[in-house]
Amino acid sequence: PNYSAIVLAAGQGTRTGLAYNKVFYRLPEGCTVLEGALRPFLMDAACRQIVVTAHPGEMEEVQALVQDSRIRVVAGGDTRQDSVRQALEAVTEPVVFIHDGARPYLQARELEKLKDVMTREKAALLAVPVTDTIKEVHEGRITGTPDRRFLYAAQTPQAFDTELIRSCHEAAREQGASVTDDCMLAEQFGGVQVAVVESDPGNRKITTPADLEQ
Ligand code: CTP
Ligand code: MG
Repeated sequence: PNYSAIVLAAGQGTRTGLAYNKVFYRLPEGCTVLEGALRPFLMDAACRQIVVTAHPGEMEEVQALVQDSRIRVVAGGDTRQDSVRQALEAVTEPVVFIHDGARPYLQARELEKLKDVMTREKAALLAVPVTDTIKEVHEGRITGTPDRRFLYAAQTPQAFDTELIRSCHEAAREQGASVTDDCMLAEQFGGVQVAVVESDPGNRKITTPADLEQ
């Protein structure tokens, strides 16, 4: 399907320890993190619009980074969830792909798989099976070990019917619910089962100092 992309860049990147927003960090490959995150969408003719969220003080810096008529820069909010909700107001297409501006290694192959699934689903995400054994811990003691065969680590893009995810974000705002990814909203407020598209671990997010060195 034709779609809009939301690429989120309005954070501060505090966990990287850089003195500036990590999306402006220049990768060994030569481009900035944000340019890397935008590239697969810029290369895709089905992507008709790209809404980039920027910190209100960084709108011009983001605008200057990539010139393309499909790109529109909007001000983000205090949390990622606020930024997505605000960006959704500018979305023009009936399907929207929401992607972290801090994820510069998304490959066309994974994007194509997600697009294919979105021809028949209302919500889907890229995710990878976890390789570690995950422990549930309360107050320093293990309270459970979920069966690893059923555990996946969520990535972005996460793709949705635009009206569905808009109404989920509004419901979450009304109820004061805060979530860490958009699929959580579709699960809790959307009444849909979210389809999982197996992805590549290479599609990682730049989060910590170690992520900058790799
Ligand atoms: N983001 C956003 N608006 C916010 C917070 C985050 O658009 N208010 C974006 C970030 O720019 C990032 C993506 O959401 O591309 C994923 O969030 P995260 O990795 O947590 O980035 P930061 O919030 O910038 O980093 P940190 O949590 O370490 O401060
Ligand atoms: Mg954050």
